[in-house]
Amino acid sequence: MALIQTTRIRVGSPATAVAAHLFGVIAVILMLVWVFHYRGGIDLDSQDSERVFNVHPFLMIFGFIFVIGEALIAYKTIPADHVGQKTCHSILNLIAFIIGVIGIYAVFKYHDRAQISDMYTLHSWLGITTICLFGLQWVFGFLSFWLPVTRGSARARIAPWHASFGVCIFVMAICTAEMGLAEKFIFSGLTGGNQANVINATGYMIFLFAVSVILTVV
Ligand code: HEM
Repeated sequence: MALIQTTRIRVGSPATAVAAHLFGVIAVILMLVWVFHYRGGIDLDSQDSERVFNVHPFLMIFGFIFVIGEALIAYKTIPADHVGQKTCHSILNLIAFIIGVIGIYAVFKYHDRAQISDMYTLHSWLGITTICLFGLQWVFGFLSFWLPVTRGSARARIAPWHASFGVCIFVMAICTAEMGLAEKFIFSGLTGGNQANVINATGYMIFLFAVSVILTVV
């Protein structure tokens, strides 16, 4: 009987992690092309309010979504022992939170400059909820998995909840970012063309990044 060799890509395998890195990096590059080539760049202190706004999508996609995704798959991708992986996971998530807060500060500053009212869209409601839940999840994770007051048996019970909530908050962040892209597309009055393609491709890559991250961690 002929021996048929097949290449199998397992869920949770290094292949899905590699795909996640790849789609994440492409999404970040596309975001850079969008804000620098089409929208005049990023500057939190600029007199041009659009450049202040641009800080928001850039930090939310590069600093928040990409870094959270990398933090989620750290247990599969970082060649270290459990404590080393846990340290990377916690530090990456903390960095993502800090950058996320700066990214949200940027859009509040933009609204202030452009005299636009705050929190009037579903995107902004979901966005604030996501960043608050993310902060709470980090604090709760720190108390549960770093402080010696939590016993091993309690940690084992909390771990699956922590992981499940982590994935849910990541999905919320992805939905919020996709909504933000669609919103800006419409606000900019685009009806096609290269800039529209760049925005759509960014959103598509974020979607593929999310799928690869989730397949890696399940
Ligand atoms: C997880 C990622 C994101 C979070 C948590 C988030 C969060 C927020 C929040 C809280 C606001 C409200 C600010 C205010 O009312 O003053 C906002 C506004 C805005 N964001 Fe995002 N955002 C994210 C990603 C993005 C992305 C990728 C874009 C793409 C361009 C974007 C576009 C916008 C726009 C156009 C506004 C102003 C209009 C509005 O309030 O909805 N956001 N965002």
